[in-house]
Amino acid sequence: MHRAMMFHSLFLLQLLLLFSLTTATAKRLHTITPRLSPIVPRVWLDHPDQNLEAPINGSLDTIGFLVDTAVHFKSLLAYVEHRYYGESIPFGDEAFENASTLGYFNSAQAIANYAEIIIHIKKKYQAENAPVIVIGGSYGGSSAGFMVRLKYPHIALGALASSAPVLYFDDITPQDGFYSIVSRGFREASESCYQTIRKSWDVIDEVASKPCGLLNLSKIFNTCRNLSSTAELKTYLIEMYISAAQYNAPPTYPVNKVCGGIDGGGFGDDVLGKIFGSLVAYKGNKPCYVNAPAYQSAVPGGWRWQTCSEMVMPLGFGNDSMFQPKPFNITTFTENCKRLYGVPPRVHWVTSYYGGHNISLVLQRFGSSIIYSNGLRDPYSIGGVLRNISDTIVAVNAVNGSHCLDLRLANATHDPDWLVDQRNSEINIIQKWIDEYYHDARCSTKRHVGLLRFN
Ligand SMILES: *[C@@H]1O[C@H](CO)[C@@H](O)[C@H](O)[C@H]1NC(C)=O
Ligand SMILES: *[C@@H]1O[C@H](CO)[C@@H](O)[C@H](O)[C@H]1NC(C)=O
Ligand SMILES: *[C@@H]1O[C@H](CO)[C@@H](O)[C@H](O)[C@H]1NC(C)=O
Ligand SMILES: *[C@@H]1O[C@H](CO)[C@@H](O)[C@H](O)[C@H]1NC(C)=O
Ligand SMILES: *[C@@H]1O[C@H](CO)[C@@H](O)[C@H](O)[C@H]1NC(C)=O
Ligand SMILES: *[C@@H]1O[C@H](CO)[C@@H](O)[C@H](O)[C@H]1NC(C)=O
Ligand SMILES: *[C@@H]1O[C@H](CO)[C@@H](O)[C@H](O)[C@H]1NC(C)=O
Ligand SMILES: *[C@@H]1O[C@H](CO)[C@@H](O)[C@H](O)[C@H]1NC(C)=O
Ligand SMILES: *[C@@H]1O[C@H](CO)[C@@H](O)[C@H](O)[C@H]1NC(C)=O
Ligand SMILES: *[C@@H]1O[C@H](CO)[C@@H](O)[C@H](O)[C@H]1NC(C)=O
Repeated sequence: MHRAMMFHSLFLLQLLLLFSLTTATAKRLHTITPRLSPIVPRVWLDHPDQNLEAPINGSLDTIGFLVDTAVHFKSLLAYVEHRYYGESIPFGDEAFENASTLGYFNSAQAIANYAEIIIHIKKKYQAENAPVIVIGGSYGGSSAGFMVRLKYPHIALGALASSAPVLYFDDITPQDGFYSIVSRGFREASESCYQTIRKSWDVIDEVASKPCGLLNLSKIFNTCRNLSSTAELKTYLIEMYISAAQYNAPPTYPVNKVCGGIDGGGFGDDVLGKIFGSLVAYKGNKPCYVNAPAYQSAVPGGWRWQTCSEMVMPLGFGNDSMFQPKPFNITTFTENCKRLYGVPPRVHWVTSYYGGHNISLVLQRFGSSIIYSNGLRDPYSIGGVLRNISDTIVAVNAVNGSHCLDLRLANATHDPDWLVDQRNSEINIIQKWIDEYYHDARCSTKRHVGLLRFN
């Protein structure tokens, strides 16, 4: 029933720079219009199914859990767009031009926007005393938990941070963690599939080293354009394996699909024939593969800037994986960002501004009311908070879960019990926070009355 719920968009004009009041700066202020959609408290997230931080999308599939949760708590749901995405872009066409306009595109400014938006909505709906729960997935999950709840405790009563890799910064998490989880997922699905992928990289190099080798590879993989390097092919394959592992959700389990193509051997029994079989199994029957004209890297401009400025996650290929070893190299990473944007990344900013080191020690007596939820098959989970820190900063893990799966639309016939349990745990924990809030609020009112009487 609630799927037919009416949503409407609300545009708010906000200051571009929220941490400066000098008139010199104010003269150059531009406005920004974060879009709120739908209005029905919460919440913001990215797109669990698109592997990218993106504009708001009206599809309820990506935020199904939020809609169900809002209905459950009979609450208003606000779905807020991050600045510099979708229609929340300042400066028009110049927004992405260079570092001077992109400088306003950062997480501190974004969460300050969220804070102001929440206050605005509460006023508008005369709900100043209503508790607000913020929910998000991936970077949106970090924004909700790490950022909003901890930086703006007077605004958010609690946070659900789904698949938030808040510890994948600096040296907190081993660099090779991400790709070792990807590899583990394939190995669990099929040992022979894992071994074939592991061997394939050297075979690709070997074929490419022969005369007309790239042309041969182009034929073997039926590429849309002739390959200009082996990196072109390898990057494409790596992205396919990452995507399958990150979103390895029921009922289709993409990793099984990829491995079915490899083990099935429908395109020859040699290593490259098997790998090509996985492309066909995963992508479907296509006139050609790998470098179709429409193909662009899964990482769009907005998120690339964020990873090149603040969100520097050191992802390297270690020895214990199905990939060729290649450690994260901060020198090359920095050079690349300088080439793209003219500025070097602030490698230590996230841990300076938000924290992350010794998180249990720091948060056990300071913070409260945050759920970190993770699916342990999601490679980002290795940079997540996977243990309970206190009574109210808790980890809700699903051993077989994938990236942001708990936030997706529930499916009564296909959802496995562990997923239903994970979502129910989250709802029960949030319910407790809200009950306690109303209990505390009543008690403080009584005390207030008592004080008046004594006066
Ligand atoms: C939202 O995303 C889905 C799936 O990616 C897409 O099919 C749909 O067209 C999008 N809807 C809007 C309103 O952009
Ligand atoms: C950045 O772009 C703006 C708008 O095009 C321009 O005015 C400014 O000079 C540029 N700044 C730099 C450092 O290139
Ligand atoms: C292309 O590579 C395969 C190995 O996968 C090899 O058997 C074949 O001889 C090569 N073809 C040419 C034309 O080099
Ligand atoms: C690839 O290169 C070969 C040899 O140069 C050429 O015959 C063929 O048309 C090219 N294929 C594509 C798809 O461009
Ligand atoms: C991987 O193996 C190489 C060569 O055996 C070694 O030099 C390197 O230290 C290893 N790296 C890691 C991360 O274990
Ligand atoms: C990182 O890359 C630079 C430049 O490409 C190279 O000189 C350096 O040795 C690399 N560092 C490591 C640790 O591999
Ligand atoms: C904090 O964590 C670092 C490693 O990240 C460790 O070396 C240090 O001993 C820890 N500090 C405390 C007080 O536990
Ligand atoms: C954390 O605590 C919650 C609630 O008490 C419990 O459901 C959950 O299993 C615990 N998480 C872990 C990872 O032990
Ligand atoms: C996770 O999946 C594996 C294999 O698919 C299965 O054996 C195991 O029981 C599952 N674990 C849970 C907790 O559902
Ligand atoms: C549940 O999932 C199945 C399989 O993906 C799909 O066919 C069905 O439409 C879904 N049902 C709902 C209510 O979304």
